[in-house]
Amino acid sequence: MTLIEWKDEFNLGVPSIDHEHRELIDLINESFDQLVGSDSHLVIQHYLGEIYARISAHFALEEKIMREKKYDQYEDHKQDHEQLLDDILDIMDEYDEKDIVDCQKLGDSLTHWFTNHFKTKDARLHTHLGI
Ligand SMILES: [Fe+2]
Ligand SMILES: [Fe+2]
Repeated sequence: MTLIEWKDEFNLGVPSIDHEHRELIDLINESFDQLVGSDSHLVIQHYLGEIYARISAHFALEEKIMREKKYDQYEDHKQDHEQLLDDILDIMDEYDEKDIVDCQKLGDSLTHWFTNHFKTKDARLHTHLGI
């Protein structure tokens, strides 16, 4: 099962960024495959953590670029990143409490978030900065 299917809508038209986003989605999907293939609490916890870490590393890089370039919508963009990270933390907490990962919910919320974020915030960032 693929957690996030790459959609044409994800493309910003900036080859280097599209490549990086594609790699990010691939990494998330790989971690997710490991997660669904396991019934060990520790392994599932580990891969949920990996998904979080990979997304957060991409955001950190983007935020660094925004700070360096004194991007005018830095706060707003960063807030959107934090919203997704919070949602993932909630899913991780839910798993710790109830031992259940709602894969459908995780996949839907990530797909929904990435579709919107790539199309709006990241598209604006990359066209604005010309990178
Ligand atoms: Fe991005
Ligand atoms: Fe972003």
